[in-house]
Amino acid sequence: MAAAEAAGDAGLRTAAAPEGAELAAVIGATVPTGFEQTAAEEVQEKLGSASSISRDRGKIYFEVPARSLPQVHRLRSVDNLFVVVQEFKDYQFKENKEDALKDLEDLVKKLPWTDPLKVWELNNSLKKKKTKRKKHNLQGPASRGKLSDGGEEGGADQNSTSDQEDCAQNPVAVEPTGGQDTENPQGVTSRNGVEEEEDNEQSDVKVGVQASSESGTQAGEGEAKVLRFRVTCNRAGDKHSFTSNEAARDFGGAVQEHFQWKADMTNFDVEVLLNIHNNEVVVGIALTEESLHRRNITHFGPTTLRSTLAYGMLRLCDPQPTDIIVDPMCGTGAIPIEGAAEWPHCYHIAGDNSPQAVKRAANNISSLLRKNESKDSSTALGVPLDVIQWDICSLPLRTGSVDIVVTDMPFGKRMGSKKKNWDLYPACLMEMGRICTPGTGRAVLLTQDKKCFAKALSRVGHIWRRAQTVWVNVGGLHAAVYLLRRTWERADETRSFW
Ligand SMILES: C[S@@+](CC[C@H](N)C(=O)[O-])C[C@H]1O[C@@H](n2cnc3c(N)ncnc32)[C@H](O)[C@@H]1O
Repeated sequence: MAAAEAAGDAGLRTAAAPEGAELAAVIGATVPTGFEQTAAEEVQEKLGSASSISRDRGKIYFEVPARSLPQVHRLRSVDNLFVVVQEFKDYQFKENKEDALKDLEDLVKKLPWTDPLKVWELNNSLKKKKTKRKKHNLQGPASRGKLSDGGEEGGADQNSTSDQEDCAQNPVAVEPTGGQDTENPQGVTSRNGVEEEEDNEQSDVKVGVQASSESGTQAGEGEAKVLRFRVTCNRAGDKHSFTSNEAARDFGGAVQEHFQWKADMTNFDVEVLLNIHNNEVVVGIALTEESLHRRNITHFGPTTLRSTLAYGMLRLCDPQPTDIIVDPMCGTGAIPIEGAAEWPHCYHIAGDNSPQAVKRAANNISSLLRKNESKDSSTALGVPLDVIQWDICSLPLRTGSVDIVVTDMPFGKRMGSKKKNWDLYPACLMEMGRICTPGTGRAVLLTQDKKCFAKALSRVGHIWRRAQTVWVNVGGLHAAVYLLRRTWERADETRSFW
């Protein structure tokens, strides 16, 4: 049975548009795990499209007209974007490895590539090129992942949550083989590694060129250029007879043969995505070169949080115009900077007890100011954000003066220690309770030290009530985001400043 038959009518989504109809796209977006619903709400609010949340945690799908692509790139909750070529909700994989791989190979020529490739082409002028990162910003090999992906423990992109995941984000480029399978896939590497190490400036050649899925070329001014591609396969599930490398290799070989494109692991024009999650298969084309979460930060620290996660945390507490929002342990300022960018009608205050962190946050705010100035927009008033050095245990803020506290607490692994957390967490909750307005104040707190947090919270149950918990994956660590609501009870004043 051929692959398409094997998939039966389970191909639920295809991006092929009827003749004459406006070009539309089903967009897939990777989002911080745990914040899929938040992302779906943002898409509904800003694009008016309903989203479906994938069984494969950390992804959402929504349909938009292709003309809305600029707005899609401005979403705050999404990390990476791709256009869906086709989705199979219940793909039947053969048990035998060779048969299963042959089906994947055969699938390539049956997929509706034309419209997704048009969307890819339109997207080329919109997507942000990969930024070259200064290596002297890094703090040694151990911190490299942290700088890229944020969170206390940083590390990998946060979409690999399954224990059975096979080589999460494992791209394989297939060397030209004249249509034959290659036994040794070239340059198998981790995508995160590529993002950190590669300076992909050469991919800029795409600007203003036409892609043709028929000829497999880009037609520039009078000259035709063969497109370069790579296939990235993500596979999760324990019932597959093949690895992600094998799937990428064979699928990639068929893509090469079908389009006559040239395989290139690093300097590729088109990145074809093959996502396999149990019986769910999604074929897509990447629309982002680097995760959109890198938008705000220029000066990274050891535990810089992803802007997308910061956005999810801020959204949880539903900021209202004129709210005063404080991040008392701001580090490099990922949360307040995201807050000031997205909620400019609130006043944001950030602080940290580390002078180095305060300096980095200040530098990041300066970068944002410069970016805003160069946009020649109405943001000339500046960024509604101040940064101060302080100790969370005795904040120089009036009792009851703050509407919202949002912070990413030391997990006690890379930052601070679990032992210190036993004193720090109750003191934090007390002081946050003091500065927050009784009855309406709220706090959104991220930590991986859930045991210590639960104990600390039980000690201040009179001032804080837990309203919601969102389980998130922070660089591979199982962490929690707690939404707390301030009760009407008076908080104890350990020290009075004002
Ligand atoms: C997990 S990091 C925050 C990272 C931050 N979200 C970012 O994006 O860079 C926790 C921060 O808490 C700060 N911190 C630890 N103890 C503190 C205290 N007593 N008062 C204020 N800040 C403190 C650390 O210096 C560190 O920057």
